[in-house]
Amino acid sequence: MSGNITFTMVKPDAVRNNYTGPILKIINESGFRIKAIKMVHFTRERAEAFYGIHAGKFFFDGLIEFMTSGPLVAAILEKENAINDFRELIGNTNPEKADAGTIRKLFAESLTANAIHGADSDENAIREGSFFFSELEQF
Ligand code: CDP
Ligand code: MG
Repeated sequence: MSGNITFTMVKPDAVRNNYTGPILKIINESGFRIKAIKMVHFTRERAEAFYGIHAGKFFFDGLIEFMTSGPLVAAILEKENAINDFRELIGNTNPEKADAGTIRKLFAESLTANAIHGADSDENAIREGSFFFSELEQF
């Protein structure tokens, strides 16, 4: 059973395509409350640290290139069972495999430029959120 906080980023493709508003609307209508939010342009150093778990994988360089290609919108969200419910709302990593109605199915451009991030555990929500928000802001 997961906690009631998750961390998300509307990724640079979706910000560029003017999908920030529509995506946040779906998030709100799905029962999530926005606890903190900001638009940030990732530096290469911070993007590499954020995605450190994927360092060395074949898609890492492309992922960092993409995540530093423009501003993103980072947010802390609150809802019961936040981690699992949000992963369900965003859909499969690959938009071609994502269920109809999921955010990635609706808005993603490609497997790399897949519109949105969702933390996959309570621990990662806190680790990832702290790249953008102070502990005080988070809770
Ligand atoms: O974001 P998610 O947890 O669904 O997937 P991940 O496996 O943790 O990968 C992180 C991000 O790397 C994905 O959201 C994609 O943007 C990117 N990725 C990619 O470009 N090519 C892959 N084969 C796998 C992931
Ligand atoms: Mg992941």
